[in-house]
Amino acid sequence: MPTLNPQSPSHPDLKSPQSSKAKDQALSDRRFKTLDMTMKRNQFKHDALIEVLHKAQESFGYLEEEVLIYIARGLKLPLSRVYGVATFYHLFSLKPSGAHTCIVCLGTACYVKGSSKVLQALEQELGTSVGNTSADGKVSLLSARCIGACGIAPAVVFDGVVAGKIEPEETLKRIQAWEAED
Ligand code: FES
Repeated sequence: MPTLNPQSPSHPDLKSPQSSKAKDQALSDRRFKTLDMTMKRNQFKHDALIEVLHKAQESFGYLEEEVLIYIARGLKLPLSRVYGVATFYHLFSLKPSGAHTCIVCLGTACYVKGSSKVLQALEQELGTSVGNTSADGKVSLLSARCIGACGIAPAVVFDGVVAGKIEPEETLKRIQAWEAED
């Protein structure tokens, strides 16, 4: 298989608008800082890849493309290698199956501030449990362990956007808006 080097200026992801979007998002999203810390702790060694992917899955709920590109750059690995490992192991998930994604942080700070109540309300509303998608295919409900936003706990990520100090009622309103979509 040809190797895609994410460090190379000819790599398509480095030139696309999505790349700068990913960069902006990376700067504003503390979950990426969590990844940075994990990579740094491992001295950016290539063999830290699985640990970093675990951390990413914990923080983001699944491994979206932007995250894989970010990890490839951080560890200076070919993107194809990162994809290869992420797709080889069943415990990694590349996509939520629902049209929308709701990730409830169940890390200590969020748990103490009531994220389990938020999750309970969501499970009832969606008629499904964490790690699954509602029967209509609209919402995938995931959990994470600390998304790096402890200061605004409890935190929930709606389609990639972090919302803090969120109550079950507000969470349900957002989900119901998704459910009402055609
Ligand atoms: S524990 Fe939820 S953001 Fe840290």
